[in-house]
Amino acid sequence: MIDAQSALASPAVIRREDYQPPDWLVPDIALDFDLDPATTRVTAVLDVVRSSAHGRPLRLDGDGQVPTKVLVDGNPHNDWRMDGDTLEIDLPGSEHRIETEVAIHPDRNTQLMGLYASGGNLCTQCEAEGFRRITFFPDRPDVLARYSVRMTADRKRFPVLLANGDPIASGDAEDGRHWAEWRDPFPKPCYLFALVAGDLSANRATFTTMSGREVQLGIWVRAADLPKTEHALAALQTAMAWDERVYGREYDLDVFNIVAVDDFNFGAMENKGLNIFNSRYILADPDTATDADYDAIAAVVAHEYFHNWSGNRVTCRDWFQLSLKEGFTVFRDQGFSADQGSAAVKRIEDVRTLRAAQFPEDAGPLAHPIRPDSYMEISNFYTATIYNKGAEVIRMMATILGPDSFRASTDLYFDRYDGTAATCDDFVRCMEFGSGIDLTQFRHWYSQAGTPRVSAALDHDAGSGRATLRLAQRTAPTPGQPDKEPFVLPLKLKLFGGETGAALSNEQLFMLDRPTADITFDGVTERPVLSINRGFSAPVIIESDRSSADLKFLSAHDDDPFARYEAMQQLMLDTLVAAVTLGRADHEPVIDAVRRTLEDPALDRAFAAEAVLLPSDSFVGDQLEMVDPEAVFRAREALRRDLGKHLAGLWRSAYANASQAGTFVYSPAAKAARRMRSVALGYIAASGAEDAADVAFAQFEAADNMTDRQGALTTLVNGKSDKRIAALDIFYNRYSGDALVLDKWFQTQALSMRDDTPQVVADLARHPDFSLANPNRARSLVGAFGVNQRAFHMAGGAGYRFLADHLIALDKLNPQTAAKLLPPLGRWRRFDPARATLMKAELERILATPGLSKDLFEQASKSLE
Ligand code: PHE
Ligand code: ZN
Repeated sequence: MIDAQSALASPAVIRREDYQPPDWLVPDIALDFDLDPATTRVTAVLDVVRSSAHGRPLRLDGDGQVPTKVLVDGNPHNDWRMDGDTLEIDLPGSEHRIETEVAIHPDRNTQLMGLYASGGNLCTQCEAEGFRRITFFPDRPDVLARYSVRMTADRKRFPVLLANGDPIASGDAEDGRHWAEWRDPFPKPCYLFALVAGDLSANRATFTTMSGREVQLGIWVRAADLPKTEHALAALQTAMAWDERVYGREYDLDVFNIVAVDDFNFGAMENKGLNIFNSRYILADPDTATDADYDAIAAVVAHEYFHNWSGNRVTCRDWFQLSLKEGFTVFRDQGFSADQGSAAVKRIEDVRTLRAAQFPEDAGPLAHPIRPDSYMEISNFYTATIYNKGAEVIRMMATILGPDSFRASTDLYFDRYDGTAATCDDFVRCMEFGSGIDLTQFRHWYSQAGTPRVSAALDHDAGSGRATLRLAQRTAPTPGQPDKEPFVLPLKLKLFGGETGAALSNEQLFMLDRPTADITFDGVTERPVLSINRGFSAPVIIESDRSSADLKFLSAHDDDPFARYEAMQQLMLDTLVAAVTLGRADHEPVIDAVRRTLEDPALDRAFAAEAVLLPSDSFVGDQLEMVDPEAVFRAREALRRDLGKHLAGLWRSAYANASQAGTFVYSPAAKAARRMRSVALGYIAASGAEDAADVAFAQFEAADNMTDRQGALTTLVNGKSDKRIAALDIFYNRYSGDALVLDKWFQTQALSMRDDTPQVVADLARHPDFSLANPNRARSLVGAFGVNQRAFHMAGGAGYRFLADHLIALDKLNPQTAAKLLPPLGRWRRFDPARATLMKAELERILATPGLSKDLFEQASKSLE
């Protein structure tokens, strides 16, 4: 527990209900950067306006710096004071011009917030509260300013100078330096500010908008990486056209630049006109990037681009509204990706992500509504709940409204709130106004945390031909929310005939908005089988009494591809849970269902490859009262082995068919073939076939692309053959100069199901290529290990100690990234007392660390509560 002393030092809690509009507005700001990695001087000229008749001083946020100069209306001003990190100035009038100067040190900035150095270049990251590390400013998203930026830097080291908006002028300065000026005509919050100075080359193209304006596009990377930017550039053009077609959104500046940097805390950042990306979401070629990487690149490029409207033109009033831009923009990027290939597979992937990352969050100590009520450190709230559950909430509204009303409502939203900082409720009001539908009760999705459970029981009276579906919803308490109001759950339903497979009803959208409801179907002459939550229409857990025969039936006959996948998953889950809890299970229904899926020629291969995959160890664990990681692992391996053995011929032919592809192409059909090949290889290995390692090694050596190579490596690294050592060495030597591929080398080993993974991971942490300073590298080892349920939880607690040691070390460099990796330790309530005690001890050790960041403090203290 938290002792009195550390409780005293607890960071302040920021509450949504305390929101007050800003006292001072800043319509214009001019920034002048004298750039240098060691010391950069920043001069800021702010035009400030008193927002109402109040007598309060101007308060400008900072972070650790003290101004070297303060001018008011052009005159030196000594009557300023520091209140902690805040610069406070009393001002007599209602409009003043404030000039401050600070010195900052980019090359000492290991937090990667504010202005920092990465790979010899200088770049910024300001969301959420990084701008205050650059200069004094009211660092809150509802203060919107027009920015003009001047930068001066050494021409040789930093030949390229970029900032938001449009380039205005540039020229030479003294001593081998040069300068550039940029101006952004759109008022924006300071979290969208960005600049980049570096030795970069651009892959350029143009895009002509729907009203005929030509936009200059540039993707900026190290010159050597230019060949790896084609995919991202093409994705950008596709995304720009998609947003015009689907949402009527046109780009608004003359230039749109993207810069890739190697050191980045998140995926990418939507700074106005100058997106800055983690290089893993830009760089791709067949030799170094998997199909999943290609897909993620297109999705993230689209996501950041879409923020230009959902986030930038309309921004957030305060950080409690984060899901206003993130949930909506994830929903938009999901729609974009669905339109690029198989929509069904995309939905399966998105639901898998939600279940892997968001359901556990909603069921644990860090659960929060998509619009939180309080936080200590906002960086901790860039979560799967805000992003992915937020997207599901938008999706439900889109489902309830229907496509035409939804589009009318988003048009209204963009129109009404353009140029302003809005709230989630503003968005919902537009949905109501554009559709005439009352969403009062639906708003519980914004205020209540937790994943609803819906029980569904179907009765059939053959005599009267009446079927009755009894539905009930309940949501378990979450921290601070003991009782829940019923949610509005849009459930897509359909009945199928259990003997003929015929549809017994049309699909209907049922709104479950009370604790219980009965739905009757008449004229049901055949025993009905229930298909429910089709398309995953509501982000809930369905508990139904469907037999394994019915699930098997649906997995072969349901006409909704998601529901079909879901039936198979449920059948697999029921089988694995039975194996863990009863110690035995009948594998036959799963084997039979997988056989039928593999043999069905009408099925899209991409879909079939996903449908035959077993649920992950962690997802099986999530179904249990108490997770027994070894029992889950054994049950899953046993089922994998049986599937591998009993369907050996089918896996061999699936493997052979999928291998007939010629040279690499990135197309939906070729991707499906590669996916099926990796899945089949996994089952061939699981069967215990003697030649499995040879087949995998041959694929590893012959591969002309990273998907096949990494697929083979994963199979080897999970296996017992010595060929895994050879493959790992070959892989390492081939890619030792490529940081993004080396991340895969670390990650594949950290995710291995082998007995020795904890030891391998501990050794890798001492490898010369391992470093906590690079977030991608830290995540590839420490982060991946934390989500490897079997390895992390191996008895004895070495895994817990390892994670805590590395979080404590990483916290000193980069608190944001450290705090993101803590949640696996916070899941102690889900484990047996021996493990729980060890996990809590590590959380307590973290909390007792002197100088702990508020990021890690918040995560660790909430995890113990
Ligand atoms: N706003 C970014 C996005 O989702 C994420 C991000 C948050 C990046 C904080 C950096 C820092 O697109
Ligand atoms: Zn985003």
